[in-house]
Amino acid sequence: MKILVTGGAGYIGSHAVVELHQAGYQPVIIDDFSNSEESALAGIEAILGVAVPLYRIDCADEAALRSVFAAEPDIAGVIHFAAFKAVGESVQKPLAYFQNNVGSLLTLLAVMKEFGVENLVFSSSCTVYGIPDALPVTEATPTKPASSPYGRTKQMCEDLIRDVSAAPDNTLHTILLRYFNPIGAHASAKIGELPLGVPNNLVPFITQTAAGMREKLTIYGNDYDTPDGTNVRDYIHVVDLAKAHVVAVQRLLDRKASEPVETFNVGTGHGNTVLEVVQAFEQASGQKLNYSIGPRRPGDVPAIYADATKAEQVLGFKTETSLVDSLASAWKWQQTL
Ligand code: UD1
Repeated sequence: MKILVTGGAGYIGSHAVVELHQAGYQPVIIDDFSNSEESALAGIEAILGVAVPLYRIDCADEAALRSVFAAEPDIAGVIHFAAFKAVGESVQKPLAYFQNNVGSLLTLLAVMKEFGVENLVFSSSCTVYGIPDALPVTEATPTKPASSPYGRTKQMCEDLIRDVSAAPDNTLHTILLRYFNPIGAHASAKIGELPLGVPNNLVPFITQTAAGMREKLTIYGNDYDTPDGTNVRDYIHVVDLAKAHVVAVQRLLDRKASEPVETFNVGTGHGNTVLEVVQAFEQASGQKLNYSIGPRRPGDVPAIYADATKAEQVLGFKTETSLVDSLASAWKWQQTL
């Protein structure tokens, strides 16, 4: 079964390609390398022992996308990772975010329809919940106005898929996966996160600080209404997250989905504070981390973590990797860079 993976050279995409192949699927990668590196392909090949087919195109380029579908006539489904993902950058360049994230989905849906490809797994985000009224968030928790253009693109893409799927002649079957915070790297340390420039995200900033590339971590605020005053997030190991895509694809192919668009939270079901992550990193690496407390980062959600019950009950999906082990894998990866 051939699965097209847009953004397959990226952080989550590369791990999903590995898990798909190891589960017996034939992944085919589309990537324009706007926020990924060629080295991810070598890492994938080193893990799998075979090269995965790659098309170097922008997913929003309709003619190029059409040529991929024409060259790969038996695509059973698509996992659509390709998107811009930096919250801060999206405030600076909103148009680029809407064009890329919404534009590529529109193009993809049109080409999938043209070629009769009916199965889609879409990368959504817990950012669609905004600042939730109650924790943990379930899939039924109402979405709130997005705090950034990035978040808005995820909400718009979800809405777009729902509207397309409500058409009388609809043939599209979609699973929306709302990711919490992916961290860590493949156990082989051959693929992992490759942030360009100064990392925005917590874990690459921590590992770069421990590696001596950054002087210290600034923790964005310790006066939130949380157990130790720092933000709470649900940190999920990227390989666990990748495996959720494999079960989602299988469910679509088996036509087991109960409705044209199904939504699942993909998190561990546990919240951890930033300070807990720092402590877990120190335990995993055996190093003390240099950090200080700074002001709050605008747009940060005080606390969010998943109710992971639906994914467990419906998909049979449960995370396996602890926070300490996830951070150990991130540290192992950092040391290869
Ligand atoms: C956010 C979005 C997520 C999106 C991601 C993309 C929410 C709830 N989450 O993740 O959907 O996919 O951006 O990048 O909107 N921190 C520090 N110091 C640092 C870096 C981070 O203290 O140098 C803290 C943050 O304040 C936050 C936590 O670490 O509490 C995690 O931050 P980060 O890794 O950037 O992810 P989110 O902002 O949670």
